[in-house]
Amino acid sequence: MTALLSDTADLAAERQNVIQLVGVTKSYKSVDVLKPVNLDIRDGEFLTILGPSGSGKTTILRMIGGFTPPSSGRILLRGTDIAQVPIFKRPFNTVFQDYALFPHMTVARNVGYGLRIRKTPPAEIKSRVQAVLETVNLADKAGRYPAELSGGQRQRVALARAIVCEPQVILLDEPLAALDAELRRSMQEFLKDLQRRIRTTFVFITHDQEEAISMSDRIAVMDHGNLVQVGTPEEIYYKPKSEFVAKFFGENNILPAAAKGQASGIESPLGRHSASSAHQGELLLAIRPESFRLHDGSEMRADERMAKARLDAVTFLGATTQLSLAIGGLGGAAGEHRVKVRMPTALSIRNLAVGSDVMLRWSEADVSFLPKG
Ligand SMILES: Nc1ncnc2c1ncn2[C@@H]1O[C@H](COP(=O)(O)OP(=O)(O)O)[C@@H](O)[C@H]1O
Ligand SMILES: [Mg+2]
Repeated sequence: MTALLSDTADLAAERQNVIQLVGVTKSYKSVDVLKPVNLDIRDGEFLTILGPSGSGKTTILRMIGGFTPPSSGRILLRGTDIAQVPIFKRPFNTVFQDYALFPHMTVARNVGYGLRIRKTPPAEIKSRVQAVLETVNLADKAGRYPAELSGGQRQRVALARAIVCEPQVILLDEPLAALDAELRRSMQEFLKDLQRRIRTTFVFITHDQEEAISMSDRIAVMDHGNLVQVGTPEEIYYKPKSEFVAKFFGENNILPAAAKGQASGIESPLGRHSASSAHQGELLLAIRPESFRLHDGSEMRADERMAKARLDAVTFLGATTQLSLAIGGLGGAAGEHRVKVRMPTALSIRNLAVGSDVMLRWSEADVSFLPKG
């Protein structure tokens, strides 16, 4: 019975993961461009690989696609190693940044290309191309050539060409990087909506944090060839596991902190927080500007903390207002730290006097402690 149960559990786990990278590395000559990467990509998810230029994103995508082999480690497709499977036999399609459309072919012929290669009957090609062009809102452009299309339309042709073959996974290497800001935003929405409709796994690369947060089910963050954290946008944003991730996404307050043992907790310029056994020695405290509020005299919840701060500046930003504050040093020592607080704009906040003291309130749950250095 136990064996049967664990078999069933294994099957469920295999169904969940469409691709698994197990200890995958890549070196060129003696340079390690990718440290061992372990990453599970789940069936039907929109997974984004995010990181600065040169961090190894394209290298990961090229290895999944079969364009280059790993130096070590294994890539599994639904539990089976695909090291020996050539590019054209992998059930993936890739959308490149430059679209790579055939200039001498019409939109319809570009989109049907993969089906012709697979010797799909002409009548079926015609109907599938038609259906996919409707999906990407290009049904009326079937007879045009790439040069007669806008950048966004060419991008959608490239997407249509990738989805028409009904791949199990679509690999997208910075497909929006060449578009101007406005078109880029509308293509982000289009792409996310398309992924929901066709329910295909998307592995999407970008170096743009906001793009990653707004589009992804999960984000894999890369830094110098290391996969540093994988999680939902909320986890990555509010529960960073390193200083790099804490600083990479939007504004954050990073302050020194020191663990004094599980009983006495963690000391910081924001006072004392509870520690777990994982916290030791010098640390960094991270808390988002929007995680603070001003003390209004109401009763504190058990998980709440409070600290006095001096208001240095109030900046009106439209819907939100930013407060810049000064707080004391670690353990009450001299040496001031700055904290940024952001809250919905209200008259009571805009009227706060610069130079006055305010009481900040926040929840322990909104604080992350990170290893230092
Ligand atoms: N064919 C290659 N030969 C040598 N170095 C390479 C090669 N391809 C990529 N690299 C190096 O690997 C690192 C990661 O590259 P890449 O995966 O393209 O990064 P990203 O896509 O995150 O910008 C970079 O330092 C890059 O110079
Ligand atoms: Mg790249």
